[in-house]
Amino acid sequence: MSNSHPPRVIPVHDLRPGALPIPLSSAGIRRAPGLATSDTLGRPLRDLRISVTDRCNFRCSYCMPKEVFDKDYQYLPQSALLSFEEIVQVAREFVGLGVQKIRLTGGEPLLRKNLELLIAQLGTLRTPEGQALDMTLTTNGALLARKAQALRDAGLQRVTVSLDGLDDRIFRQMNDVDFPVSEVLKGIEAAQAAGLGPIKVNMVVKRGTNDHEILPMARHFRGTGIVLRFIEYMDVGATNGWCMDEVLPSAQVIARLQTEFSLLPMQAFAPGETAQRWAYADAQGQPDAHAGEIGVISSVTQAFCGDCNRARLSTEGQLYLCLFASQGYDLRSLLRGGASAQELAAAIGSIWEQRDDRYSMLRASLPPQPAAAPGRRVEMSYIGG
Ligand code: GTP
Ligand code: 5AD
Ligand code: SF4
Ligand code: SF4
Repeated sequence: MSNSHPPRVIPVHDLRPGALPIPLSSAGIRRAPGLATSDTLGRPLRDLRISVTDRCNFRCSYCMPKEVFDKDYQYLPQSALLSFEEIVQVAREFVGLGVQKIRLTGGEPLLRKNLELLIAQLGTLRTPEGQALDMTLTTNGALLARKAQALRDAGLQRVTVSLDGLDDRIFRQMNDVDFPVSEVLKGIEAAQAAGLGPIKVNMVVKRGTNDHEILPMARHFRGTGIVLRFIEYMDVGATNGWCMDEVLPSAQVIARLQTEFSLLPMQAFAPGETAQRWAYADAQGQPDAHAGEIGVISSVTQAFCGDCNRARLSTEGQLYLCLFASQGYDLRSLLRGGASAQELAAAIGSIWEQRDDRYSMLRASLPPQPAAAPGRRVEMSYIGG
């Protein structure tokens, strides 16, 4: 008898977690117009972020570090992804429960084939009050010059472009695939020309890597109608080797901007907003409409969980209640198991109603999590920003 073992199949690099059981309430949930489904902390369900692919053509070290997302990394097979029809089926129920805004994310959403078809289908959804949705998309901009007009024609209203600096050397280093910044800037121009506005530009600030780009970025976008937002580098996922030393608190971002510009704090536009907004001031100390505004997103130093109304649907149809969750709820099984629209709505409603997630508010009091711990956090490229 041979004592050799059969070959073992080890799922190298599979960072995707298993799913949580779905708590089913007895009744189908249909909300009355004006009333949104709320969680245990009274937070309504307003914003749905849909990840349409787990792939990306960049390898930003804070999101998809090359060492992990290498040629052996096993992305989801096509059959695991929600189809456009499935996405629309799920989205429709979310909208019935209070969602008013849909953001398409990835990975890089423009890598998903025929994305315009999905946008057109989602564009037909209406809230119970009969309103169209605020529909937007987060992109790294690499394919935007080519796709902006088609996205607009399909009914997309606006885009948010991730851009971590203007210095070509730094930008190539941060995207880690040697992608030139000029192409992203062309993408932003094309989006502006196509009317995909107001455009937002998101810059993740890593102290010691791109913080010297804060002022050049502000100078570049001031007065263009584009809203630049500075994001604190977060400890999301389990692969980016996050440490607090690399976080530049938003208060310091503002202080640096104030060495050159005069800024005025603005009122929040809507509850649950991620960004604190600041207007450029004119010579009279009044908001200068032409110069516009900037935003800071301070998830590390000033958590905004209190109003968090965001649900995330992963590429394979799992519902995540927090960016820092380690598990989601498997809506795809429900869909593919033939659940009715009412059953789907009941499932989503009861999952949201028992939500108590508020990771960023609790961060300081939680024990540090080892990167490879079981039950580690899901990657942002899988559930979307
Ligand atoms: P707008 O409607 O365009 O203002 O979008 P937004 O600010 O809601 O969303 P966006 O996707 O542009 O968010 C910007 C960044 O904020 C993301 O890339 C994340 O880094 C961070 N972020 C967004 N949502 C959350 C969240 O729910 N929790 C935490 N901790 N960070 C978030
Ligand atoms: N910290 C902060 N933001 C992040 N993003 C991805 N990873 C991180 C992180 N570790 C956000 C960026 C990027 C979007 C796709 O996701 O805003 O623009
Ligand atoms: Fe891709 Fe965006 Fe992640 Fe960068 S931050 S690797 S562009 S998904
Ligand atoms: Fe929402 Fe979680 Fe982000 Fe807090 S940490 S704002 S609960 S997604």
